[in-house]
Amino acid sequence: MGLLSKFRIHRIRTRIFLLVTTLVALIFTIFVFYFPKRLESQVLKALSARYMSLLDMTAYSLDRALASGDRKDLEDTIRRLREKNALAYLVVLDDSGKVVTAYNRAEAEARDFQRVDGDAPAFRPGMLFRMASPLLSGDRSLGRLFLGFSLDEPFRDLRSHQKTVALVSLAILAGGILLVFVLSGFITHPLTAVTRTAERIARGDFKVRAKVGSADEVGKLARSFNTMVDSLQVANRQLEDFNKELERKVEARAKDLEKEVGERRRAERELRVVKEELENQVSQRTDQLARANEDLKSKVLDTRRAEDQLQNTFDKLQKALEGTVKAMSLTIEMRDLYTAGHQRRVMNLAVAIAKEMNIPQDKIEGIRMAGVIHDIGKIAMPAEILSKPTRLSRNEFQLVKDHPRVGYDILKSIEFPWPVAHIVLQHHERIDGSGYPDGLVGDAILIEARILAVADLVEAMSSHRPYRPSVGLEKALEEIRRGRGIQFDARVVDACIKLFREKRYQLETEVNGWS
Ligand SMILES: [Fe+2]
Ligand SMILES: [Fe+2]
Repeated sequence: MGLLSKFRIHRIRTRIFLLVTTLVALIFTIFVFYFPKRLESQVLKALSARYMSLLDMTAYSLDRALASGDRKDLEDTIRRLREKNALAYLVVLDDSGKVVTAYNRAEAEARDFQRVDGDAPAFRPGMLFRMASPLLSGDRSLGRLFLGFSLDEPFRDLRSHQKTVALVSLAILAGGILLVFVLSGFITHPLTAVTRTAERIARGDFKVRAKVGSADEVGKLARSFNTMVDSLQVANRQLEDFNKELERKVEARAKDLEKEVGERRRAERELRVVKEELENQVSQRTDQLARANEDLKSKVLDTRRAEDQLQNTFDKLQKALEGTVKAMSLTIEMRDLYTAGHQRRVMNLAVAIAKEMNIPQDKIEGIRMAGVIHDIGKIAMPAEILSKPTRLSRNEFQLVKDHPRVGYDILKSIEFPWPVAHIVLQHHERIDGSGYPDGLVGDAILIEARILAVADLVEAMSSHRPYRPSVGLEKALEEIRRGRGIQFDARVVDACIKLFREKRYQLETEVNGWS
């Protein structure tokens, strides 16, 4: 098959044809070359046997004729032999080698008749079959018989026969080849039909079908093929439908895309325009902002200058205010010798407590300011009450208790940056409501006032009073501890005790913040 493929013989019909033709040609060759040879040898063998038999018979007849000396018998024997056979020559020699009788003696001598080797001769034109036999009468030798038969006629017959065989073989060969050709066509026709159908289908013609004419394997193949083509046609139709659908979708999508691209380009153009516009606006805005910034800078500078001026004015006012407050403080102290320095010490202690409590600096300033004038209300009291060495009467004490409100009234019209008037008003209030003048409770009392209350009590108890000697710092601290969380703010009490206990705070040696 490889060889067939190599020579590009792809058709089954051609292959079958070539194979069978080769086989038939081989058989033909055997017929033409082998059998004639074999026939030739068999014919020769048969001829040999026949001529041997003729030799024996002739020798026997001649024995008798020679023994009887009957010449006629002798002649008859030779005549019969000649009539029925292709006798080439006959020679009878007596014992002395003399010719007794002969037929066609010249031919015999030309052919050297006495040379008989006994070998079977080959079939060739002009060849003779030579034979020799002794002639006997009992045990007595009468002479020798030499026979020569022509092989021309059997050779002609044989050749004629061989020609006939060759011709018949050739005819059979031609017929066989023709038959093979037709048969191979007949065998392969359905296959070829299926193949052609397949080729047409392969070219896209799904309408064609293989013609089914037989029930054999090819028929089954054709039917299976047709079924397959049916399925294929259905699949192809579906595929075509799908293809069309796909094409439609692709077309629609392409249109959509085209539209989208158009819209996008339009949007991009618009965007570009907007961007340029924006850039312009940004540029203009930037210029405006730069200008505004410059304006702002100059305004800030102006503002700063104004602020500086204001600060200067404020500082001057502050100083004037402080001077006024100091003057007020000195005024009350000049009237009340016993409480001289009380307000400054209270102020210093209150500021120290506030710092200990981490009160904001702004509030501390308020404490400082209120602390130094917290008893300003006493200015309205008669000097004899203030410096009275004995205990005050009930009415006198009621008068003294008015000093926070009097102080408030004096200070309320002054515009401090801190609630100085209210701190002064509340500096005798207690968180349990037991204080005066309003009996305020808890957080209703300003933290500055709560700090001032503790500082005022501690300083008052540690100093001499016209009506009693100094109670002492320890007693003062004991007093505020007792009132911790009841009368006094617990945080303020803790800070105050911590100052004296841990930080060694001293009332007398404190530097006067108003010096
Ligand atoms: Fe007071
Ligand atoms: Fe006081």
